[in-house]
Amino acid sequence: MDSIIVTGGRQLNGQIPIAGAKNACLTLMPATLLTDEPLTLTNAPRLSDIRTMSVLLESLGVEVSSLQEGKVQVMSSANLTSHKADYDIVRKMRASILVLGPMLARDHQAVVSLPGGCAIGARPVDLHLKGLEALGAEIELIEGYVHARAPGGLRGAVFEFPFVSVGATENILMAATLARGTTVLKNAAREPEIRDLADCLNAMGARIDGAGTSTITIEGVDALHGATHPVVIDRIELGTYMLAPAITGGEVELLGGRLDLVAAFAEKLDEAGINVAEGENGLKVTRRNGRVNAVNVETAPFPGFPTDLQAQMMALLTTAEGVSVLEERIFENRFMHAPELMRMGAEIEVHGGTATVTGVERLKGAPVMATDLRASVSLILAGLGAEGETVVNRVYHLDRGYERVEEKLSACGAKIERVSENG
Ligand code: EPZ
Repeated sequence: MDSIIVTGGRQLNGQIPIAGAKNACLTLMPATLLTDEPLTLTNAPRLSDIRTMSVLLESLGVEVSSLQEGKVQVMSSANLTSHKADYDIVRKMRASILVLGPMLARDHQAVVSLPGGCAIGARPVDLHLKGLEALGAEIELIEGYVHARAPGGLRGAVFEFPFVSVGATENILMAATLARGTTVLKNAAREPEIRDLADCLNAMGARIDGAGTSTITIEGVDALHGATHPVVIDRIELGTYMLAPAITGGEVELLGGRLDLVAAFAEKLDEAGINVAEGENGLKVTRRNGRVNAVNVETAPFPGFPTDLQAQMMALLTTAEGVSVLEERIFENRFMHAPELMRMGAEIEVHGGTATVTGVERLKGAPVMATDLRASVSLILAGLGAEGETVVNRVYHLDRGYERVEEKLSACGAKIERVSENG
């Protein structure tokens, strides 16, 4: 198992290219199931989660080819050989549930394993199922599997989400493209990944209006066709690397970065005393002199502060001047990085969904353990600013969502290397 060793204390200066969004790609790939013509995604990130989605699609009979070192994914669902997403793959990655809506819409049947809980919370899929039922699906849960059928096909309906869910919005949006009649989704997620999915589906012949707002209207069509679609940039990778110079000092340009994708987050950086400027090539982040200011953060669905940047923001605030309060409102157990940061000298108190961080002058390097993707990268960020060496273990979590992290950071002057246990 690989570890990452970071020696802290170096200012970062340079440029970091931002990859295509993991979470957009993980919903764009299942969209291929809606058509028997090829779907081509460009700007796909090279990540283990993307490979897992490829393996899942291949198990259903989709032909997946990766070109240009994995940056282009060409998928053809002309001949589906199975309608069953097996537990062995689904348990590795919850986004596997996103094959349910498209398979059901196209072939009126799908069997998908329930994903189960994960490190950050229980994460049920009840809204995915309720939304599909609203479109006429018959759903049974049998021995850990969702058995869904839609004899005669899905039909449009009005469905209001009781609370915002990114994945459920994506699943039902995809299913509704091939349903008979009009579907209206109310209180839909507004994340940029939803908009990207709708753009891709519209390029495939779907008729979707309002994606990116909380009401999405979908006029069902008889069939979708192939298309080529560029994956939107990864706003969470962007935010993560914006924090690197914020923690170490220096100036880093995030190539391809867009302020509209990270506005609420950038506002908090500004409050902390970090300068963010949008230019022609992306975003430039500069740390002004002195310690950063403490700020309070509350996670919320887009356009609010993303839960996927909460751990990384906490890494910054461990050395802020004053007391910061972070409230996690999306997942019930997403402070697993806090005890690890405390091993590095951070002062953090966690009570339920609230973490209170009292800034200290500096963290000290330590061996730490990553529990999930965003927690792992928050420990790397903390290590960049800490005194001495930080060893982050279990970095396979990191490889699910960040490509070439050590290369991108060392190109800006960080001392960071990956070591493999077997030498
Ligand atoms: C997506 O997960 C992302 N994953 C997550 O990214 C992200 O943290 C999350 O959205 C919130 O922004 C992908 O896009 C692949 P939700 P998703 O449905 O769709 C509850 C990362 O680090 N809920 O919006 O699963 C749920 O438990 C990851 O890249 C139900 O109760 O999130 C959570 O509390 C982790 N029933 C809340 O809603 C349901 O049927 C929001 O979850 C669905 C969700």
